[in-house]
Amino acid sequence: MSGDAKTSDLSILVTGGAGFIGSALVRHLIGSTGCNVLNVDALTYAANLASLADVEADPRYDFLQGDIRDADAMAKAFADFRPDGIVHLAAESHVDRSIDGPAEFLSTNVTGTYILLEAALDYWKGLDGASKDRFRFLHVSTDEVFGSLGAEGLFSEETPYRPNSPYAASKAAADHFVRAWGKTYGLPVIFSNCSNNYGPFQFPEKLIPLAVLNALHERPIPVYGKGENVRDWLHVEDHARALWAILTGARPGENYNVGGNTERRNIDLVNNLCDILDKDRPREGGASYRDLIAFVVDRPGHDLRYAIDAAKIRDRLAWSPTVDLDEGLRRTVAWYLDNSDWWQPIVKDRYAGERLGLERTAAPS
Ligand code: NAD
Ligand code: TYD
Repeated sequence: MSGDAKTSDLSILVTGGAGFIGSALVRHLIGSTGCNVLNVDALTYAANLASLADVEADPRYDFLQGDIRDADAMAKAFADFRPDGIVHLAAESHVDRSIDGPAEFLSTNVTGTYILLEAALDYWKGLDGASKDRFRFLHVSTDEVFGSLGAEGLFSEETPYRPNSPYAASKAAADHFVRAWGKTYGLPVIFSNCSNNYGPFQFPEKLIPLAVLNALHERPIPVYGKGENVRDWLHVEDHARALWAILTGARPGENYNVGGNTERRNIDLVNNLCDILDKDRPREGGASYRDLIAFVVDRPGHDLRYAIDAAKIRDRLAWSPTVDLDEGLRRTVAWYLDNSDWWQPIVKDRYAGERLGLERTAAPS
């Protein structure tokens, strides 16, 4: 598949397009590439159609509420929309929730991916000529499948899988199914494994929006353990550009690591956020938001460090991150300050910042 920005008339099926990264990808596809997009999303707690307000009226955008585990609905979506490619992001995505209730992660991330692969394979087998050659199944995965790094080293595309959380295990299993559908059945699959994303429209269970919203509500900002765990942060809009580069540039069977080249310890990141808020929304009385930081009991199985070697995507697909982390954090904090209409209903009705991931709520089945 090849696609020049703004000149592409490809039809792309996106799963999970009402989520954080999926909505950034849909905004990018509609806003910058000329693609037609069908967004297939079950609208779980993590979804928000308000994140798609900029594109919802565009004639090239369409939405289907559907569950990737519903084989008939997926077959119909392929048959009706006739995509040139699919970008699969639909998933349960939060490590702490996977500790509380792993069953949903197995069901959505593994079984759901399997059902989607079967629907894609059936559809692809019925294509011919250029449409069959052009088709790609891009599976969006995470660097967490590689497990934890020590103080040194980077994850490469060759790093063996060693998932540690139920979330990472479910994504690793899905990656293996996708690979097998490529090797065994010839489906033209490609993969990306990306580091931690941040930016606007992120559900406030993840560290950055949670810290910002807790600070704004004068609640403690929970830092797990000693805050020494390191993540490699990538702005979500850079990730959306990377997915487009991979979708249009990767050969079948290829995998690409995607990362921001920006490692930061959690405690340093949270301090950065507090300092930005101190400038942009000073607390009454003049104290620093840093005073709200609370070191809390660690996440079970907490991976120490993730960091990506993104040389392959840089060298082969000419992609590199463009948003500097400090600038990206300032913009992200400003976005949450300016967009309480987006997050207030979530905080009121869905999730108000309570601690997740310390005990299981679902019995093993
Ligand atoms: P998210 O939780 O914000 O969104 C997930 C979306 O998938 C939601 O809109 C939800 O409604 C939808 N969904 C869930 N189950 C579904 C089902 N059964 N059928 C259809 N739709 C369903 O997630 P995100 O942070 O945007 O992550 C998107 C993808 O990227 C995931 O596959 C995740 O593993 C991967 N990823 C995330 C990060 C990150 O930092 N957030 C990093 C690397 C990779
Ligand atoms: P998170 O945003 O959950 O992403 P992931 O677990 O996929 O990396 O967490 C990022 C880091 O921040 C991780 O090391 C766990 C830590 N963390 C906290 O210290 N406090 C919190 O309240 C949360 C949600 C995460």
